[in-house]
Amino acid sequence: MRQRTSATAAALALVAALALQLAAPAAAACQNTVGGACTYSASNAQSDCCAGKTCHPVLKQCYPSPRTLGQPCLDQDGYDCGANLACDPVWKRCMPSPGKEKQPCIKHSDCSSGLYCNDYTRRCQAPNAANTKNCHASLPCGAGYSCDTIRNQCFVAPRTADTPCVGREMNNPAVPNWGCAAGTSCERVISWECQPFPGLQKACHDFLPCQAGLSCHPYIQKARYTGFGSFCFNEPRLLNQPCGIVTVGGQQRTFDCDFDAGLTCDISVGRCVAAAKENQSCYTNRPCGDGLSCHPGQQICLRVPRLEGMPCVDDGTDDTIDFKCADSNSIGEPLTCDMLVTKRCIKAQTYAKTSNVAGAHCYEGRPCIDGLTCSTSDQKCYNYPRIAGEPCIPNAGADSLEKCGPGLVCRPDTKKCEAPRLMGELCFPGFPCASGFSCVNAFRQCARASQLAGEYCDPAVGPSECSAGLSCSAQWPYCVRSA
Ligand SMILES: *[C@@H]1O[C@H](CO)[C@@H](O)[C@H](O)[C@H]1NC(C)=O
Repeated sequence: MRQRTSATAAALALVAALALQLAAPAAAACQNTVGGACTYSASNAQSDCCAGKTCHPVLKQCYPSPRTLGQPCLDQDGYDCGANLACDPVWKRCMPSPGKEKQPCIKHSDCSSGLYCNDYTRRCQAPNAANTKNCHASLPCGAGYSCDTIRNQCFVAPRTADTPCVGREMNNPAVPNWGCAAGTSCERVISWECQPFPGLQKACHDFLPCQAGLSCHPYIQKARYTGFGSFCFNEPRLLNQPCGIVTVGGQQRTFDCDFDAGLTCDISVGRCVAAAKENQSCYTNRPCGDGLSCHPGQQICLRVPRLEGMPCVDDGTDDTIDFKCADSNSIGEPLTCDMLVTKRCIKAQTYAKTSNVAGAHCYEGRPCIDGLTCSTSDQKCYNYPRIAGEPCIPNAGADSLEKCGPGLVCRPDTKKCEAPRLMGELCFPGFPCASGFSCVNAFRQCARASQLAGEYCDPAVGPSECSAGLSCSAQWPYCVRSA
């Protein structure tokens, strides 16, 4: 009975199963298998998948919604990935989000922090470190390194000596100092690597400047019997170092010698030499030291300005400014350059009578001091205007440098300044009497302008010289009562 019952149950179950199978299409049985076939309906993401699944519109397969790791996905509601997953933009499968190393990516933000999307491999990748190849625009180097995009290799940042400069491919520094560390500079002719600033006598060029305190001397022989090149030398240049004006790329550059150290540039050899000292010989390429000038003709260094007794040249122009005399000597007496005779600095001529300078002459190039002028009569200096007794030029105009002072007249006979004469004193044409007197020419004596009786008069002039009521008699040339 028991077996029969069981047989009956089995038969019933079979019947039921058959009935179910027959009824399935009509009963809308759902697809529950992950990846199982479904009939996609655009109006219903689930379509004929069972609850909790959606029908992939392209694959036409049922998958859980939201999708789990590795399952096909779409960036659309209903077909998207679950928490901590993202629908991979290329592979359209659910991948960990953000991407782990080696996981596909399109952009850096697809990758986890610290990883980059390598645009060549389209995989998330950790940055490279020192000297590891394979860095490029989309795969930078690790912290403390930067990518040399010509070598595609990471180098320490900032670059140290013998590592590539940054920005070579652009021939333009992408970062200050071409990415080179302090104390180094980008050698941009040969190596394009950061190099320490070259030291004394080390090779240099425009793009590899010398250490502080040095400057690059272009195209010279560093030392005898060595090749030509550009080398670093002290600035200013020291003894025997190259100096002078050098044209580099059309621009003139001047490399001076250390003048403070008494050096000067001998342009004939282009090196710094010790400047000639006082009394030492000098010539074109061995100039005198500071405060000295090479005296023309004598070729010895003399101090500027020249002192009393020293050779001088002074043509009044700036051409001779280095050879001129000091304004005065050690005790304040004015100096002048005697261009005509001694060619030395002498005291300027003073008043002839008091001058103790032998000769005491003045002439062109040896002028008188202010307040005095040179007399053309004896070539000596006298007061200007002249005082009594000093030489003068008779009848000289008001502009004359040899005129007599106020109240004086220049005697034509002595050519000296004298006061006009008074009553009874000598006078003659050109040497008149003082105001209020007139020269009675016949007598060469001064008389009152209107003579009184008994005073001399000039018969040639007539009675007009005599006072009223008097006349001048030819026989007795004195004023007498008119007859
Ligand atoms: C240069 O020579 C002059 C004249 O002989 C002399 O007075 C002077 O002391 C010399 N100067 C030096 C620095 O030797």
